[in-house]
Amino acid sequence: MAKPKSILVLNGPNLNMLGVRQPELYGRESLDDIGRACAARGKALGLAVDFRQSNHEGELVTWIQQARGRAAGIVINPAAYGHTSVALLDALLLAELPVIEVHLSNIHRREAFRHQTYVSQAATGVICGLGPQGYLLALDAMANLVNPKKARA
Ligand code: DQA
Repeated sequence: MAKPKSILVLNGPNLNMLGVRQPELYGRESLDDIGRACAARGKALGLAVDFRQSNHEGELVTWIQQARGRAAGIVINPAAYGHTSVALLDALLLAELPVIEVHLSNIHRREAFRHQTYVSQAATGVICGLGPQGYLLALDAMANLVNPKKARA
């Protein structure tokens, strides 16, 4: 059997505090809960999920660079770095992989500085406002992007 394709699921700064951080905005689920749900959905889709979090922009850049030629796609919640980081945008562009950007909250209903993200310019698609379900929907979409022949409706 062919090796399952690997999807890098990246989480940016402060997402390690999910569950205790502003639960009215981000919910009660921890990042570990979301990671477990992603691993289960990946298994069901025949994808290997490599789920990571960093509070450091450069570490995220390095992981994205390493994904080039190794991973089949990237799901990323860049958190605040989405709004500020040209370095993350450049890394995602050089990765030459399908990218799905996820935000737990609906960034367009929030402060104006959250309405724009650099990461969106490298993204095949963007999901926001659906909480942790957004990660699972991103994996469903990614399965179609990386295995188009097995595409689901
Ligand atoms: C976030 C939205 C960002 O604006 C914020 O800085 C985050 C989390 C989200 O998942 O809703 O840290 O990416």
